Amino acid sequence: MSAAEVLAVRFPDGFRLERLEREHPRKNFHCGEPEVDDWLRSKALQHQNKRLSVSKVLLDDVGAIAGFYTLATGQVDFSDLPPEETKRLPRRALPVAVLAWLGVSLDHQGSGLGRRLLAQALRDCWEAGQTFAFVAVILDALNDDAKAFYQRWDFAELPGHPYRLFLSFARLDEMQTGS
Ligand SMILES: CC(C)(COP(=O)(O)OP(=O)(O)OC[C@H]1O[C@@H](n2cnc3c(N)ncnc32)[C@H](O)[C@@H]1OP(=O)(O)O)[C@@H](O)C(=O)NCCC(=O)NCCS
Repeated sequence: MSAAEVLAVRFPDGFRLERLEREHPRKNFHCGEPEVDDWLRSKALQHQNKRLSVSKVLLDDVGAIAGFYTLATGQVDFSDLPPEETKRLPRRALPVAVLAWLGVSLDHQGSGLGRRLLAQALRDCWEAGQTFAFVAVILDALNDDAKAFYQRWDFAELPGHPYRLFLSFARLDEMQTGS
């Protein structure tokens, strides 16, 4: 993913990104992973209302949910990060941004929406990181396919946690600023 792409995430004409609301037709969302569908259908709004996470939905031209992502905050232990990432960090729990969920509906997969949603989620993280500091974005990949999808964009495995991936804030900053 290039810096320019992260800076200016453009969705195709007719698509719009909105913060999840009760009126959005989330019960009809199918991305092929029941766990992801179930999150959006029955938990995402509750968690948002409790201020545990925020979800954004990409609506298509008829108002159906074409995709979504959920962001939250979290912590990882100092010892969970690779030594090269922690050289100058204190030995304690460290704040992270969490890309908790991402999905694209089956009828829209393969048309670049997942890549754009990931870019927008990372942009949201970067913007939040100007005000609330964190050392990395982390996520738990559901399976090998999802892991391969994220690894294309510089997410790396946490040592000893093959499905937990991270992107350092320094790398995110490079993507955003091109420096
Ligand atoms: C993973 C997912 C979000 C990808 O969305 P998508 O809209 O189909 O992806 P895109 O069309 O933007 O594809 C972007 C690139 O990633 C690749 N890609 C897409 N899905 C992939 C997968 N499962 N594994 C590896 N690479 C993948 C595409 O080939 C494409 O490459 P290209 O740019 O060279 O053509 C979507 O398949 C999905 O919702 N899956 C089910 C839920 C899930 O696994 N979510 C992630 C874990 S929470």
